[in-house]
Amino acid sequence: MDIGLPGGLLRQYSLITPLCSRRRYVIAVKREEHGRGGSRWLHDSARVGQLFELSSPRNHFEVAPGDSPVLLLAGGIGITPIYSMYEQTRACGRPVHLHYWCRSQKHGLFLEALADRGDVTVHYAASAEESAGQFATVVQGLSKQTEIYCCGPQGMLDHLEQLGEDLNVMPRIHLERFQAAPASAASNNAFEVTLARSGTQVRVASGQTILDALRDAGADVMYSCEQGLCGACEVRVLEGCPDHRDTVCSAEEHDRRGTMIICCSSSQSARLVLDI
Ligand code: FES
Repeated sequence: MDIGLPGGLLRQYSLITPLCSRRRYVIAVKREEHGRGGSRWLHDSARVGQLFELSSPRNHFEVAPGDSPVLLLAGGIGITPIYSMYEQTRACGRPVHLHYWCRSQKHGLFLEALADRGDVTVHYAASAEESAGQFATVVQGLSKQTEIYCCGPQGMLDHLEQLGEDLNVMPRIHLERFQAAPASAASNNAFEVTLARSGTQVRVASGQTILDALRDAGADVMYSCEQGLCGACEVRVLEGCPDHRDTVCSAEEHDRRGTMIICCSSSQSARLVLDI
């Protein structure tokens, strides 16, 4: 969900759905001293009773339907979406195991709610090296059917990607990133975008993003992070072949859903037709 903060800051936070109700949304925000400013403002300046503009909730990181076992891996504040996924998967009666890495009990979230659950393992690791060893042991012991979902620090996600490639299980790994991938957002080549609802044709120049080209053309499009992270600018692709560069979901997931992220992805074909 997007939260509009003073000064035009727009930030995305996971709803902790087991704690939400029809009358309230619950989020958890870790204060990042060297972040972009949103968490510092919420911790230091937000006041009880203050009003914020919110987007509708959206979800690009959910457990896909099925009956295969689910392994949930969370590191640090990455527990916020994973905790919701754990409770929901468990409520469906599907086999699930949650592994949660945090520095110490003082740094852990939801520890009381997760205590005494046979399908939860909490790991306390003082260093990245220590957690990496535990992490590899968990992932290497998996059954071939297990679907893996992971949210945590960049190093943890990179490590899991590497393990997934070594073990040849990448299609079963689903990652939620808090940081944009280093890939360039700008297109390497020029191409045409057709907005199917109006028939408008827009030229995307080399070095420009689709989002920028559409904004320049006066199109009314939704967006938020502009980093390929939040999913706010996801649109349906009706024709053409996108070049997916975001971290919202994998290229395979986009192709299955028939969507693309226009703030950072590009086109492999000379023309894209978008459902806008
Ligand atoms: S605006 Fe956030 S993914 Fe495009």
